[in-house]
Amino acid sequence: MPAIHRRPRWAISENQATPETVFENRRAILKGLGLGAGALAGIPLLPSYATAEAARDAAALTADLYPAERNERYEVDRELTPEDISGTYNNFYEFGSHKQIARAAQSLVTHPWDIEIDGMVEAPMRIAFEDLVRRVSLEERLYRHRCVEAWSMTVPWTGFPLSALVALAKPSASARYIRFETFNEPKMASGQKQVWYPWPYVEGVTMEEAANDLAFMVTGVYGKPLAKQFGAPVRLALPWKYGFKSIKSIRRVSFTDKRPTSFWEQIAGNEYGFWANVNPEVPHPRWSQAEERILHTGESVPTQLYNGYAEEVAGLYADLTGETLFR
Ligand code: MTE
Repeated sequence: MPAIHRRPRWAISENQATPETVFENRRAILKGLGLGAGALAGIPLLPSYATAEAARDAAALTADLYPAERNERYEVDRELTPEDISGTYNNFYEFGSHKQIARAAQSLVTHPWDIEIDGMVEAPMRIAFEDLVRRVSLEERLYRHRCVEAWSMTVPWTGFPLSALVALAKPSASARYIRFETFNEPKMASGQKQVWYPWPYVEGVTMEEAANDLAFMVTGVYGKPLAKQFGAPVRLALPWKYGFKSIKSIRRVSFTDKRPTSFWEQIAGNEYGFWANVNPEVPHPRWSQAEERILHTGESVPTQLYNGYAEEVAGLYADLTGETLFR
């Protein structure tokens, strides 16, 4: 995201990026891999050090669960973003502070992948991803995804409601927030060698937000297990908030009575806050949020309050008027 100024000199700013550059970059990646357009998503690109054990990754262990049935309640009035575009234009700072991290992200080892559930819960537990995913019921939902950088896409996520994870965790009545944490393995993810970032990536929601039907734990996309660049094996999707709240590759879920300070809040709290709800009328300190650029068409369209989900979520914030809800 644009808060960090130590970007390499060749990196263009997000505001300058055009659909043409997106296409060019995608072509360059595919060419570099010796692949044609559209080929990226299905092909496992194992790093040279990968062992047979690592090849038994989360996607292979759970492939039988896809495609999951679509829940028609979560429709969108926009065309889906083609997979080869959403899968080659990603924010995943653990693998680089630019959008073309798809190749580098293939070094993410997703097996074994244990998720720690701790803090204010009946009994802390550690659960293997492939066990967790079989204890819930998966469904597909079409969601909008609006980055704080003012681009957007529409994605067919597969996953399960965050409320199902809360039910499994059995938090105590005094828990007020959930804190999510990603892995911290600089050997595997070279972006984490950049010491000026406060690794690991952390995000948080209130218990009320977690109980909202829209809060979704994502394990798949485009009818398949989540490709690594999307945050395999499990990430969050909070479609009414700016995309940075949707933390990727979750390793730890903690229930707490203290409001977590998120990764971007630590870096630039005046630009990226805890709530980060989408609102076209509240500009980012350095740019307008009135419009958004649809990633695969380049078209600019008006941004909607709560990213089009006001009916479902506005009630969550009715009593929080003193809070900075839209940054
Ligand atoms: N999660 C982790 N662990 N690391 C990241 O850098 N980037 C965030 C979010 N989750 C990020 C992350 C941002 S800024 C956005 S917009 C979305 O992931 C991007 O998701 P996508 O690449 O699937 O579009």
